Amino acid sequence: EVIPSSYQITSEFVKKILPKRKEDSHKGDYGTGIVLGGNPNMPGAVKLSSLAALKMGVGVLHTVVPTKIQQTLQNYTAENITWGIDYTNWQKSLNELAVPLEKSTAMAVGVGMGTQDNLNFFKKLIASYFKPIIIDGDGLNLLSKLSTKDIKENWILTPHPKEMARLTGLKLNEITKNPVEVAKYFSKEFNCTIVLKGASTVVSSPKGIAFVNISGNNGLSKGGSGDVLTGILLALVCNGATPLAAALSGVYIHGLSADLLVNGQDNRGVLPSEVAFALPKAIKEL
Ligand code: APR
Ligand code: MG
Repeated sequence: EVIPSSYQITSEFVKKILPKRKEDSHKGDYGTGIVLGGNPNMPGAVKLSSLAALKMGVGVLHTVVPTKIQQTLQNYTAENITWGIDYTNWQKSLNELAVPLEKSTAMAVGVGMGTQDNLNFFKKLIASYFKPIIIDGDGLNLLSKLSTKDIKENWILTPHPKEMARLTGLKLNEITKNPVEVAKYFSKEFNCTIVLKGASTVVSSPKGIAFVNISGNNGLSKGGSGDVLTGILLALVCNGATPLAAALSGVYIHGLSADLLVNGQDNRGVLPSEVAFALPKAIKEL
């Protein structure tokens, strides 16, 4: 019998592994998430991840950004609790975040964060946190400056091919030529879940078992789509999915939501924020 090098993610499979919700519930049943990132030039990424986490059903959401943009974030959604920090003062910032970090179920770090003057803060933050972490965007660029030995098994890394190149030292074309083999090798090597993004995203487990996602369309080729995926993964982990189950169901639902938005129109108009708003519809369609 031939063992396939990867499996395709199907709707039936996602339906099975999606965390269940119950009638008799309260917010504590759906976890507390933290989205941490942003910088004054890029407040939008954190907004999109936060929006997606809320639409995906996280119980409580904390959004942590530099103090300069805290008000911007607070004005945007009423449902999240915002915290202002200073990346350059890592000790003080981590002290101020002690309560949300303690209360949280999982954290998503890195979207729109920039890579200026925040490496120390990032390093201390991820070293002192033992619950699941989704690392995306500039969080991955910061991680590529640190030792990959420190990666933990309950982390999900969500690189696009360029971020993957920085993380692994491979050339871009070595990744795009063979994304399945690359994702398998490095998810084992790093011992974590990897979501290698692209038109066909590859999800690979710490054991090196790979799955390919074919939902989604080129309307997602737009800044902000990745930030929405990050929020989706955070909510799924907070709702009780394992990092692998969250990655598998998250990438499928993200793509499906974009597919439903097309609805007979041209793909190009799909907006990341709309993808977040359409998530509940996508889940109904599974
Ligand atoms: N078909 C299906 N899915 C697609 C397609 C496509 N043709 N194009 C993009 N996608 C999906 C990817 O699978 C992924 O989930 O959209 C998402 C894009 O994510 P990113 O590449 O991370 O893009 P994003 O973060 O939104 O914007 C670019 O990355 O390099 C950094 O700093 C840069 O902030 C910028 C950001
Ligand atoms: Mg991105």
